[in-house]
Amino acid sequence: MKRSEINAHVHAAEAFFQKHHFHLPPFSSWTPEDWSHKGPEADAIRALGLGWDVTDLGKGHFEEEGLILFTLRNGHALDPADPKTYAEKIMISGANQVTPWHFHWHKTEDIINRGGGDLVVTLAWATDDEAHLSSREVCVTCDGVERHLPAGGDLVLTPGESVTLPPKLYHQFHGHREAVLVGEVSRTNDDHADNRFLEPLGRFPAIEEDEAPYRYLCHEYPQ
Ligand SMILES: [Fe+2]
Repeated sequence: MKRSEINAHVHAAEAFFQKHHFHLPPFSSWTPEDWSHKGPEADAIRALGLGWDVTDLGKGHFEEEGLILFTLRNGHALDPADPKTYAEKIMISGANQVTPWHFHWHKTEDIINRGGGDLVVTLAWATDDEAHLSSREVCVTCDGVERHLPAGGDLVLTPGESVTLPPKLYHQFHGHREAVLVGEVSRTNDDHADNRFLEPLGRFPAIEEDEAPYRYLCHEYPQ
């Protein structure tokens, strides 16, 4: 992705969060200049990958397949001594913008429609070799109520509704005709090692630097 494109998406996301009265923590507005003065006091932000995350999954057509995320909190996934066993993200799933099929080996996550349009979540179990979608029926919990779906079936979450996605349940989602403010509450998050995409994809985009960054993405902080 071009840096100018990423900058424009972060600007638009800030406006979208504001419109939905979702307030981000102070480090969301730190500039690269601010980061040049940050020392070890901000190590948790670097180490846990908190902050902005804009991705086209390496496919080069962000409007059709992509996602804007902001990781608000996270723990050390590999450290059993870390009492912070949870993570939270806020995301924007654009109108008809698909986050492609993937599952997580470790992370159980609740995907929450926090406002905007309806969120369509499509679900199927992974086969044992993880390479395909199984034809097995899907049973998930939505806000404390079990729901049964055929393999590859759509769940439509209206604002306020959520679904719990256990490990190895393939999911893809998109905003139905309108952008959706999507929450994620989960076990600790490791985007470098805990995403199994159905088709091989890049989790983070390659970036062409055609202008200065407005915000660093979560994988770009100077160490
Ligand atoms: Fe996921």
